[in-house]
Amino acid sequence: MVAFRLVLHKNHVSAMLDESKFDVHLKLWALRIPREFCKVATKLLNGHMLDRPRIKPITEDPTSEKTRYVILSERVQNPDLSDLPTQNLDELKKLCKIETVPYSLTLGYSYWGAGHIAHLNIPDELLPYKDIIAKVIYDKNHPRIQTVVNKVGSITNEFRVPKFEILAGKTEMTTEVKQYGATFKLDYGLVYWNSRLEHEHIRLVNKFQKGDIICDMFAGIGPFAIPSAQKGCLVYANDLNPDSVRFLKVNADYNKVNNSLRAYNLDARVFMSKLMEVKVAVGESTNDDSCVEENGSCEAHVAVKAKGSKNKRIKTSVTFNEKSWEHIDHVVMNLPASALQFLDVFRGLIQMKYWKGSLPWIHCYCFIRSNETQESVVSEAESLLNAKIHEPIFHRVRDVAPNKAMYCLSFQLPKEACINEETTDSAPVSLDR
Ligand SMILES: C[S@@+](CC[C@H](N)C(=O)[O-])C[C@H]1O[C@@H](n2cnc3c(N)ncnc32)[C@H](O)[C@@H]1O
Repeated sequence: MVAFRLVLHKNHVSAMLDESKFDVHLKLWALRIPREFCKVATKLLNGHMLDRPRIKPITEDPTSEKTRYVILSERVQNPDLSDLPTQNLDELKKLCKIETVPYSLTLGYSYWGAGHIAHLNIPDELLPYKDIIAKVIYDKNHPRIQTVVNKVGSITNEFRVPKFEILAGKTEMTTEVKQYGATFKLDYGLVYWNSRLEHEHIRLVNKFQKGDIICDMFAGIGPFAIPSAQKGCLVYANDLNPDSVRFLKVNADYNKVNNSLRAYNLDARVFMSKLMEVKVAVGESTNDDSCVEENGSCEAHVAVKAKGSKNKRIKTSVTFNEKSWEHIDHVVMNLPASALQFLDVFRGLIQMKYWKGSLPWIHCYCFIRSNETQESVVSEAESLLNAKIHEPIFHRVRDVAPNKAMYCLSFQLPKEACINEETTDSAPVSLDR
């Protein structure tokens, strides 16, 4: 079940519907395999195939009747298939010849369904008719639509939870949404949720590598955190709203990622400070040899479990190494109205003496109005960090109003931002991993 949102305009009736606005283009990978092996492939690739309602992950190969396509999940980004479990893939390769092919899919207007909560944004001029509008939507769509709600006022509270008035149906606001193979339970009345961010969630998660350490400062119910954990990252996820954290934990459980996700209910600044607080016992060496793998590379944060013989890696898994201050790969900051103002938390935050590897990438969401520029945003970020940002990358996420767009500003934390202004302890900085 999903919730859908309908935006009503005063010229709604006369407006032409541009169905192409609903199009979602997916660029995927598929495996071309002999058709008689489809059944066994389905078993071996369970959890790694495209998981979209009403779309079959096994489809005809337009070039041959002897083979079929097994469409892989959006989470599989690499044509070398390194995102798939090696053992299962090897087993499949032993059985038959497989070929990786690009697969494009467009989900258009007719694909999208509507779920059991109809979320309306009724403009002022139509408010006198709100009950009639709600009754028609409810009567004509019941039992599929169970509740019709209208958003009241603009979001001003710090948890970014809209206020709704229930116009028809049950007062129940809990629902379940699916995004790229993950399922999220939530209560619309208690937590932030925006289905229109689905592409952005997956766009960013696609940048993360298996084994990366992710810090989500404003995690909500987990739309960045849970898919990251599903792809094999270790995630520290935080939110100030206790209800969001409650659902985040429910969702981690539901999506079976509790071992790779830790949930916190703190202010984002306190959260970052706590994670980066060095807790070294007196006499303890900071050079932890236990992380050195046989090939000589040192993954500070990834513990590799190998059962059986030394050379045969039967099972690998990533686990938290309890030294969160040693390394983070990515920090996600999705609170566009004010995330920029939180950037000063990084000033002197990292204790370089204990840090291992390269500095983290920061993905900070913001709004840019028509009277502002990307340069002005960068210069605000630089003054908060007290350091110059090298090669900032802006990604336009969506337009939120005629003169206002949401962006993601990504950059690698500058080394200068890590100089602790309050201490004289300036150990040499090593950025080699
Ligand atoms: C725009 S929502 C994003 C949630 C989620 N990342 C997503 O993409 O759906 C911002 C979240 O930040 C949380 N928040 C607001 N102020 C915060 C603070 N000072 N510290 C931590 N979380 C905060 C809100 O409760 C909300 O869940």
